[in-house]
Amino acid sequence: MNILLLGSGGRESAFAWKIAQSPKCSKLFIAPGNAGTPQYGTNVDIKATDFEGVKAFVLENDINLVLVGPEEPLVKGIHDFFLADEQLKNVPVIGPQAEGAQLEGSKDFSKAFMQRHNIPAAASKTFTRDTLQEGFQYLATAGLPIVLKADGLAAGKGVLICTTLEEAQLELTEMLTHAKFGDASSKVVIEQFLQGIELSVFVMTDGKNYKILPEAKDYKRIGEGDTGLNTGGMGSVSPVPFADDAFMQKVEERVIIPTVEGLQKENIDYKGFIFIGLMNCEGEPYVIEYNCRMGDPETESVMPRIESDFVDLLIGVAEGNLNEKELKISDKVAATVMIVSGGYPGDYLKNKVITGTENVHESKVFHAGTSIDGDNVITSGGRVIAVSTLQDNIFNALQQVTADASRIYFDGMYFRRDIGFDLL
Ligand code: AMP
Ligand code: GLY
Repeated sequence: MNILLLGSGGRESAFAWKIAQSPKCSKLFIAPGNAGTPQYGTNVDIKATDFEGVKAFVLENDINLVLVGPEEPLVKGIHDFFLADEQLKNVPVIGPQAEGAQLEGSKDFSKAFMQRHNIPAAASKTFTRDTLQEGFQYLATAGLPIVLKADGLAAGKGVLICTTLEEAQLELTEMLTHAKFGDASSKVVIEQFLQGIELSVFVMTDGKNYKILPEAKDYKRIGEGDTGLNTGGMGSVSPVPFADDAFMQKVEERVIIPTVEGLQKENIDYKGFIFIGLMNCEGEPYVIEYNCRMGDPETESVMPRIESDFVDLLIGVAEGNLNEKELKISDKVAATVMIVSGGYPGDYLKNKVITGTENVHESKVFHAGTSIDGDNVITSGGRVIAVSTLQDNIFNALQQVTADASRIYFDGMYFRRDIGFDLL
């Protein structure tokens, strides 16, 4: 079959690498892709949110399946667009329709969904500009620290953890009355702070059946020792040692089953990935957030651990027979380190020539924010390259990935050398 993958990051590189290995894939196209994705397929110069452009390409190239990497086209309704179009309606899209994508697109929706289905999560309440005073009263009684979340998509920046009441009041006002995150903060969820260790759990579902993919730990802060600003993710490790069988059983019973059944009960036909951001609070799982897609850089550690044919699993999602498909997971340990541009996550350097990727042999080099400039590969994003390795144990994986990241060079590059060492 011919597959179109939408997106351009490290997640899409890892998807493309895995899809290209499948005998079921004849042609793979990546729109728009990056400087690394031509190793696995053909880049197409169409943005993932250009629905008309995607349509024309799908029809001209006999595309049989579309895998959507990022959340934005899903929240904007690319799957609905396909279903509503006479010519496209039989081309399966992996990724939920806009309604299901609200699990990520609206924190208010996802919190209400968790409440309706008794899924463990932090206590919370939602406020708007009209209820700002009630918001202040809620803050006054809520305890500290307290978490403020912009309701809508805010490019990963919409969550603020406030340590004083004054800060929380100020930020709530900024978000609701001064549109700190634009429209995304026209509603704000105020949420209890959860103390614990985070992990990311991934579920693949055809709307009825589900498979639990390898879990991963993401390292979100820019600085070593989990310090400094939040980023999209600086590295990942899979498996996560504390996510043992007992913990994962609680996750399945208390979170995954009620989530998949909840979607069904509410007639939300969900075909795609559910990324569950969890806090492990003394052995008990609490949901921090849902995303309607895979994580980045988690996918770069998850894909190498999947031994089964990934395209066959995608077909299972599309056809509604995921229960008949095999998911074999490697016992080995995957570790990923993200190399970022100087200045990231603030304003960062661009157009720097990248060298040394040819010297990496024991890890995969998954391009993220890269583009081609004549004979050179240059940086074009904040997160530039994800280096991923799969080794027999965590210690070897962490050593190997750090050594391999050091073989790559560009002006102003930075990566964390402590990814995963907290798990040893
Ligand atoms: P999100 O954008 O929802 O992924 O949130 C960003 C980060 O904020 C999460 O990865 C957590 O580290 C943190 N966070 C979000 N909600 C909470 C919470 N209720 N308690 C503690 N930390 C949180
Ligand atoms: N790494 C977190 C995310 O993809 O949202």
